Formats: sequence, structure tokens, C-alpha cells
Amino acid sequence: MMNHSQSTGADYNYTIVRQFALTTVLWGIVGMSVGVLIAAQLIWPQLNFDTPWLTYSRLRPLHTNAVIFAFGTSALFATSYYVVQRTCQIRLFAPKLAAFTFWGWQAVIIAAAITLPMGFTQGKEYAELEWPIDIAIAIIWVSYAIVFFGTIAKRTTSHIYVANWFFGAFIITVAVLHIVNSMAVPVSLFKSYSLYSGAVDAMVQWWYGHNAVGFLLTAGFLGMMYYFVPKQAGRPVYSYRLSIVHFWALIALYIWAGPHHLHYTALPDWTQSLGMVMSLILFAPSWGGMINGIMTLSGAWHKLRTDPVLRFLVVSLSFYGMSTFEGPMMAIKTVNALSHYTDWTIGHVHSGALGWVAMVSIGSLYHLIPVLFGHGRMYSMKLVNVHFWLATIGTVLYIVSMWISGVMQGLMWRAVNSDGTLTYSFVESLEASYPFYFVRFIGGCFFLTGMFIMAYNVTRTVKASKDSLPAIAEA
Ligand code: HEM
Ligand code: HEM
Repeated sequence: MMNHSQSTGADYNYTIVRQFALTTVLWGIVGMSVGVLIAAQLIWPQLNFDTPWLTYSRLRPLHTNAVIFAFGTSALFATSYYVVQRTCQIRLFAPKLAAFTFWGWQAVIIAAAITLPMGFTQGKEYAELEWPIDIAIAIIWVSYAIVFFGTIAKRTTSHIYVANWFFGAFIITVAVLHIVNSMAVPVSLFKSYSLYSGAVDAMVQWWYGHNAVGFLLTAGFLGMMYYFVPKQAGRPVYSYRLSIVHFWALIALYIWAGPHHLHYTALPDWTQSLGMVMSLILFAPSWGGMINGIMTLSGAWHKLRTDPVLRFLVVSLSFYGMSTFEGPMMAIKTVNALSHYTDWTIGHVHSGALGWVAMVSIGSLYHLIPVLFGHGRMYSMKLVNVHFWLATIGTVLYIVSMWISGVMQGLMWRAVNSDGTLTYSFVESLEASYPFYFVRFIGGCFFLTGMFIMAYNVTRTVKASKDSLPAIAEA
């Protein structure tokens, strides 16, 4: 049996990993550009150019779909296909099916990019795509599961490394969530109605929505964290036992927390309270995992001074810790009464999305690209460092402006005069939000600029691997 250190790239199917790694960068730029555009539209509405397919309402779902399913999910495909091969010490199972998941997923992304601006939508957040695309997603996802679990079944190692547990839970749960929430009655090729109605529809939707956060934006990326943080730090995971407790506690709890998206709605009150309590308990495994990741640096802290890739990974864990402290707090009904519908939620979303999901993906890619393209080093580490600062400052500008704006909006909306009338009109609260929208826009520009620098750095790295090594040494 071949051990880890003897194995070379030639033993593994890296083609699929390379494809997904490169498309992660591409879709990251596309999705975040749309994010910057809609952030600008909230300040300068005329940027919709009076064109229906450039309106905010159509571009917003395009942004969320592009960043979550094109950027984030491509990163998950790339890293899970890489990690499962490396840790099971075997080539990917069913390579043709794996290739199908790549091309099929790109087709889904293109279909989304066309149909969403055209206004075709089911109107369910993060599940907007119409039924023919939903069926395609289900087929590709089941193929992904066959490739991933087939590889695990064929493994030459005796145990299954913890990163694969997280990737596996993410793959299975997303399949179940997607299939159940997408149940619909089609009335034409581009129109369907949900099989559920009323409060049940809302509950199913947010059971899906919250677990898309829990299993796609969290469990999958924790799989990434459990492989790439120890690799980049050159240290074993701080506590393997804690990682197993972390896994079971996280997956057992997340699934119950969806109702915190539906506080003060027609959902039965006990369901809302259950969602709140489960969200509060969720704090414990979230921080257990975060601490496990950060403590993996024990004895390697000095590397943070010189290694911007490790900095990406560690800062992503800090943002993960922050957003999973904030989330349980926002799930408390009285806090949610203030935060719901305000920009506070948007700030929370992006501390998870930019700070955690994007940063851990970027850090992992900076580890991965040099391995995939054969010479062990990025074209320029200086540019990686510049990217790190742009991403960190961009994220901070984004989330701090949204916190201030959100709390301000919540307080303005609930302020009443002594005669019981509202102190502020909605438009007044909107006017007060503009400066913060501008700061968010600048933060977005910082983050996006970093992505362009990454694309340049990656292109030069790929090119250098095809030409000669000195080009890298010079940089
Ligand atoms: C350059 C970076 C980005 C910018 C400028 C940006 C901007 C925006 C804006 C303006 C909105 C709409 C806010 C509103 O309706 O008030 C939004 C929503 C959203 N974005 Fe981003 N975004 C960026 C990156 C990302 C990334 C990387 C992710 C995920 C990995 C993400 C996930 C989301 C989600 C889930 C929402 C919907 C939030 C909700 O409905 O509560 N964004 N974004
Ligand atoms: C312990 C962990 C977490 C808990 C308990 C939690 C809780 C919450 C709560 C209470 C809301 C506001 C619901 C509302 O008022 O509408 C929310 C919104 C949201 N959270 Fe979290 N959160 C957690 C972690 C995260 C992480 C790590 C991410 C991203 C990677 C994330 C992404 C989101 C998104 C996208 C929304 C907006 C959903 C929407 O309305 O469109 N959350 N979360």
C-alpha cells in the first residue's frame, strides 16, 4: 500500500480538481461583481438603466446564487474531490461521472445566469431556480454523492479522516434539502407552484434555507478547514476527539434551528421557541470547531508572521467564530424583534459569507493551486499578502457599516411619540442609511479588487508551470 508521502500528483485525478479550482476564481469574480453592482444600485438606483433584467430584484438572486452555488460550491467540489483522494489514498471513483458533475454544474450556473435576470423564479430564497433546473441539480448532486462515497468505499486507508465526514454530511443533507424543498407542480416550462402552502411552505423553505447555511456554507467549509489548516500550519489537528464531538453535535443541532428565520410569523409559537433554543445551543459546537481549528496552530503561531495563506485561514476562523456568536444572539426572539428586516441581518450574512466562506476558500485555493499546477508555490506571495489585506479590510468595512445601519434602522422603526404615532417615516430611515450603503460599497470594491489580484496571480502561476520555473523565482 502506498503511503501519503510516497504518493504523487500523478496517482490522483487532479483534472477535475483543477477545473473546479479555476472556475471558483472565475465565478467568485462574477458573483462579487454583481454584489458590488447591487450595492451600488442601493445608493444610485438609476444604475438599473431602466432595463428589466438589470433591476435590483432580479440581480439580487443572481448575486446570491452566483456566490453560493457557483463560487462557494465550486470551491467545495474542488476541495472535496482533492481531500477525499488524498486522505483515502486512492483515485477518484467513476471519473466520467466526476467529469459529468463538472460540466453539468457549469450548465446549471449558465442556466441560472440566464433565467434569473429574465425574471423566472420560484420566489423562494436560495431556491429560486425553476423546476427543470432543479431536476438537473438533483441529478448532478446524486452523481456527486456516488463519486464521493464511491471513493470512500474504495479507500486504501483504514479510517475515514474527519474532513470527509463533514464533506459527506454536506453532500447528503444538501441532496435531501434540495429535493424536499423543490417539490413543485409545474404549469409550464418556466413556471411552477410549490407543493406546500401557507405556513408549511414557509417552514419547509426555512428548514431548507437555514440548513443551506448549516450544511453548505458551514459543514462543507469545515471539511475544508479540517484538511487545509493542519496542512498549511504543518501541525496535526489540535484535538481529533473534539473534531468528532464537533461533527456529531453540529449535525444533530443545525437541522432544528430553521424557525429562527420565522420569528413572529404565522408559524406556531412553540416552533419558534424550539428554533431559538436550538440556535442558542448551536453556539457550543460552533465554537468547539472554531477553537479546534485555531488551536491547531499551537507551536506554529510564528508562521502567521510570514505566511499570508495561513493568515487567510486563521482570520476566516475568527469570522466564523464571530458570526456563530452573533447568529445565536439574533435568534433570541427579543433581539430578533430589533434585527429582523434590517441591515444587521445583511451584516451577519456577510461576516459569514465574506469573512468565513470566501476567506477559507481563498486560503485553501492558495494552498491548492501550487500543488495542482506542479511547482509548489504561487507566482507571487506578495500579491497573496495584498489580497489578504484587501479581503480583511473589505469585510470589516462591509459588516461594521451594516451593523450600525441595521441597529439604527431597527431603533428608528420602533421609535414612537408620546401620542403613539411613529417618530420616523420609513423614508427617513432609508435616508439615514445611505452613508453606510456607501461604506459597504467601498468594502465590496476592496474585496472584489482582491479577487482580481488573485485571478492575475493564479493565471501567472498556471502559465509559469507551463513555461519555466525561473519566472516564479523572479516574482
Ligand atoms: C464583493 C463582495 C460582496 C458584495 C459587495 C455583496 C453585496 C450584497 C448586497 C448589496 C446584498 C443585498 C443586501 C440587501 O438586500 O440589503 C447581498 C446579499 C447577499 N449576499 Fe452578498 N455581497 C458580496 C459577497 C458575497 C459572498 C461571497 C456571499 C456568499 C458566499 C454573499 C452572500 C449573500 C447572501 C446570502 C445575501 C442575501 C442576504 C439576505 O437575504 O439576508 N455575498 N450581498
Ligand atoms: C450558530 C450559528 C448561526 C446561527 C444560530 C445563526 C442565526 C441566524 C439568525 C437568527 C438569522 C436572522 C434571521 C432573520 O431575522 O431573518 C440569520 C440569518 C442568516 N444567516 Fe445566520 N446564524 C448562524 C451562522 C451563520 C453562518 C456561519 C452563516 C454564513 C456562512 C450564516 C448565514 C446566514 C444567512 C445567509 C442569513 C440570512 C437568511 C435570509 O434571511 O435570507 N449564518 N442567521
